[in-house]
Amino acid sequence: MIAPIERTLAGLRAQTGAWRKAGETVGVVPTMGALHQGHLSLARAARERCDRVIVTIFVNPKQFNNPDDLENYPRTEEDDARKLESTGVDLIYVPEPDQIYPDGFATTVTVAGLTDMLCGATRPGHFDGVATVVPKLFLQTAADFAFFGEKDYQQLQVVRRLAADLDIPIEVIGCPTIREEDGLAMSSRNLLLSDRSRIKAPVLAEVMEDMRVQLKGGAAMNDIADAAKDRILAAGFTDIDYLELRDGGELSPLDRSKPDARLFAAAWLAGVRLIDNIAV
Ligand code: PAF
Repeated sequence: MIAPIERTLAGLRAQTGAWRKAGETVGVVPTMGALHQGHLSLARAARERCDRVIVTIFVNPKQFNNPDDLENYPRTEEDDARKLESTGVDLIYVPEPDQIYPDGFATTVTVAGLTDMLCGATRPGHFDGVATVVPKLFLQTAADFAFFGEKDYQQLQVVRRLAADLDIPIEVIGCPTIREEDGLAMSSRNLLLSDRSRIKAPVLAEVMEDMRVQLKGGAAMNDIADAAKDRILAAGFTDIDYLELRDGGELSPLDRSKPDARLFAAAWLAGVRLIDNIAV
């Protein structure tokens, strides 16, 4: 059965209020729609852990620093609702924009430090947009658990930080990246790739996997990064925003691997920005 769609905060609160009164736990999976197997795996993880599951779909204008990117972002609500059928979620919350940003909305949440680097350095304002909408979704749904993919690892760390800093009573759970058979990390942006670009896209994950093996064997980033970047560019990517080794907590830069080290990349392929990260 397709889960009911709720578009108003009042309707959402009526539903979650009834669940809480019945002593049920609530899980939320925040998304911007264009759902793929990665999102569905989050919904399933929530289904296993919580009595009730809400998937939110809201293309948050505040986290797009590029108007074309916002305009081109895929919007596939009917399809999304159908895809969620198999996961058994209880409610899909698709708020009208004024339910999130009513007239006069004047608050921005900024998480310092964690947002200065990686995607924060190349997408100014992006994480302020994320850090502003996510607490709203947490508070509107009053969920006990929230599920985020490790694919957006920096986002996951930012969300953990803000939930702790703002004393939001929610447990943030990170779930593994889901990949296509050829290794490409699943992402709503993959829909924007042409057939030709789609064939080239897995090179990013391939190069990162080779780097992982080298780093694990003791190599230094300094010695391997240039050759890795050359391979990515030779495959047809036009630009690399970053290819960096960082620790998985505060995301501080590393030259050599250590426990909890992760490799992070963002690169452009025919106008589409792809990101990926793996544990080393
Ligand atoms: O990861 C996303 O889809 C978005 O950044 C999120 C967390 C739903 C906030 O808009």
